Parts: sequence; C-alpha cells; structure tokens
Amino acid sequence: VVEPVKVGIAGLGTVGSGTVNVLQRNKQEIASRVGRPIEITHIGARRDNPACNIDGIKVSRDIFAVAEDPDVDILVELIGGTDTARELLLTAIKHGKHIVTANKALIAEHGNEIFTAAHDRGVDVAFEGSVAGGIPILKSLGEGLAANHIQWIAGIINGTGNYILTEMQEHGRDFDEVLKEAQALGYAEADPTFDVEGVDAAHKLTILASIAFGIPLQFSKVYMEGIARLTTEDVKNADSFGYRIKHLGIARDTGEGIELRVHPTLIPKEVLLASVNGVMNAVMIEGDAVGPTLYYGAGAGSDPTASAVVADIIEVGRALTAEHDERVPYLGFHADQMAETPVLDIEDVTTSFYIRMSVQDKAGVLADITRILTEFNISIEAMIQREAEENEPVSIVLMTHKVSERAMNQALAKIAELGTVEKDIMRIRVEQLDA
Ligand code: HSE
Repeated sequence: VVEPVKVGIAGLGTVGSGTVNVLQRNKQEIASRVGRPIEITHIGARRDNPACNIDGIKVSRDIFAVAEDPDVDILVELIGGTDTARELLLTAIKHGKHIVTANKALIAEHGNEIFTAAHDRGVDVAFEGSVAGGIPILKSLGEGLAANHIQWIAGIINGTGNYILTEMQEHGRDFDEVLKEAQALGYAEADPTFDVEGVDAAHKLTILASIAFGIPLQFSKVYMEGIARLTTEDVKNADSFGYRIKHLGIARDTGEGIELRVHPTLIPKEVLLASVNGVMNAVMIEGDAVGPTLYYGAGAGSDPTASAVVADIIEVGRALTAEHDERVPYLGFHADQMAETPVLDIEDVTTSFYIRMSVQDKAGVLADITRILTEFNISIEAMIQREAEENEPVSIVLMTHKVSERAMNQALAKIAELGTVEKDIMRIRVEQLDA
C-alpha cells in the first residue's frame, strides 16, 4: 500500500474551497504526478463553505489544531493576514510540517524569519499562489529561467487595479464607481486600499525581486504609489501620446543596485503588456540569455489560485521522498549565498515622465515652466495644451526625455512655487519596456 501525502488546510474561503475542489476533481491525475495519492486529513476553518464538499474530512474551528496534528504532513495556509498566519506557520514548522501558502503579505513581510525557522527544522515552504494567482511565475523565475542573469521584471500584478484602469480607459468611467464594482466581483483585498495604494503589488514585487536577484525580502524598501490620483483626463492624454497607463511593479538591476518600485506607468500601446485588461495579470521578464518573456493569466480567483496552491502541494509531495538539501531553495538561491546588492532609493531612478499641470491662462507662464525645466536639464519630448473656458485654468501636459527622479522633484518643487501653476502637479513615470 502506498502511503498518501497528508494535507491539512487552514482557511476555507475563496482559495481554500478552490484547493479542496481541485484536489478532489483531479485526484487521479495528481496522484499519478506525485507517485502517491494526496489526502486532505484535516481542515481548520471558522465556518464551512458551501462552495466545496468536505464530507468525511475532519474539521476543526481552531486552525492551530491542524498545525499540531500528527496526521498532517503539509500545512496549507490560506487564511490571509499576517499576525495569526505567522504564528500558525511557525507553530506548524515547529511540529515538522511542510508549508504551502498563498499569503503574499506574510511572505513579503515575514518570509526571512519563516525560511530561517523552516531551514532549521528541515521543512519546505512553497508559495507559488502568493504572486499573480494561477500564473506559475515563481517556478518560471526560480527554475525555468535559472540559467539567466535577470535584468528586469515589469508586471501587472494587481487584478483589482488593472480592472479599474481598464474601465477608465475603455469606458471613461470614474475611479470610485469602478472600485465598488471590483469589490463586488470579489477580487479586491479585504482592505481595498491595499489594491488601490499599491501595497498588494508591492508585496508581490518584493517576492519576485528576491527570487530574481537573490536578495533578501525587503518590503519596506519598495517605492509605492497607487492609482487613486489618476483621472480619466490622464488616460486620454496618454492615449494622445500613443501610450496606455498601467499600474506596474518594476524591479531592475541597474548594476549599481536594484530598483524596486510600484506605480502607475505610461507604456507604449504596442507592447503586449498594454493589452492586458480587466482583472488579468501579466509579468514580463528580461533575462540575459532568454531575452524578453511574458507570462499571462488569472491573477486571482478560486480555481486559478488553487491551481498554484495544488502545484505546490504536488511539488512538496514529490520532494518528501527526496533529501531536503536537494530541493529547490525557498527563494531559488541558497540562503547562505544571498546577494548584498543594495535596493536603490527612488531618487536614484531615471525615467521619462508624463507631467500634467493646471496653469493660469496668461502670457509668460509656459516660458517660466520651460525655463525651470531647462535649468534642471530636463528636455521635453512632446506637449499638449488643452483649451479652457475663459478665466479657467489651462491644462498643460508634457512628456519628457529621461531624467533622474531627484532632478524632477527639484524642478516640480520650483514650478509649484511660481504662483501661476496649481500645486497639485500630476506626474506619471514612462517605460518603453524595450530592454
Ligand atoms: N487583490 C488581489 C488582486 C488578489 O486584485 O490582484 C490577488 O492577489
């Protein structure tokens, strides 16, 4: 008789119920891939979920009972959040369980601690479902692209934000109205500011960058800007210049250090990422050997995220018959060989910019603005001035050539002091994504 791999699941929400469903639906194929059947022996959840059938499976209302159960080999953490989830994982690791989790906030903020504990106890931690839902992006980076020096990553890694931007773009709809709809669709985080302010994307970028560059997880160093300030006017202006606005997570090795940044970005309409719409996610990775590559798919949802979670269960299930040290390291690089490459301050980043400002409609204002830009060596690539009603401020929109964030900050601060320009100046970084 072949011993099954015994799985305990903590959390039976959207992803938890999807995981139960996929494990049951594809039971035979999965067993053939692992070489042993996978059996769910224990579920910990505050309440049952009608979206899945758990007849015959032991259920506890206390999730810690699953983490301590001797009849569990792999603890699958799908409760979300950081505090209880961290406690739960450390408890399970102490009890010698392997870990599978889809919790991006937990890995980004506490991953270093969790990996150390797991390494000391000789157990695995797999977290494919934590980034870009069903897209196997971590395995692609850590294994499929392992031959490459990774140069940069640019990804649409928050479905809610992308849905909002797409609706603004295609239907000229306003931000607030679309956000409510995204929440109703069930994609938004429990706290939707995580989606709107870029926190969710920053969690995912932290994880991608560690696996790409072999650096420790450094969530606190990610520069973060959300989509809340974008207007339909910006979307239209970008369109006139031949660009789309996407909320991107960007990680780049400049040779001096690593850029880690999450912000709205103008990208040329013709690059593939510009056509990724709605709640879909996509990640573009440039490796020195492979060149540009693109990964596209559902970044959230019950079955798509379960696809990644179950793949991790299969991976750990296979590894249970191998020696621990022969497995793929948690972050793709061995823990004692992580790089000390610094993460760059946002002021050291160089990009082109889209700038929109409201100015008084009188002689000399535009000249003042261009004089200040020239002073900081900022060259203008294109410009639009929108007609205004009498006595109304005029909207001036510029695209610049590449300039450092530091110079742009200084120039905009000086422009804001002119008195003829409204202080709330919109700036969006531009990326050509052409290597
Ligand atoms: N709130 C996230 C998103 C869910 O919209 O992408 C998946 O991590």
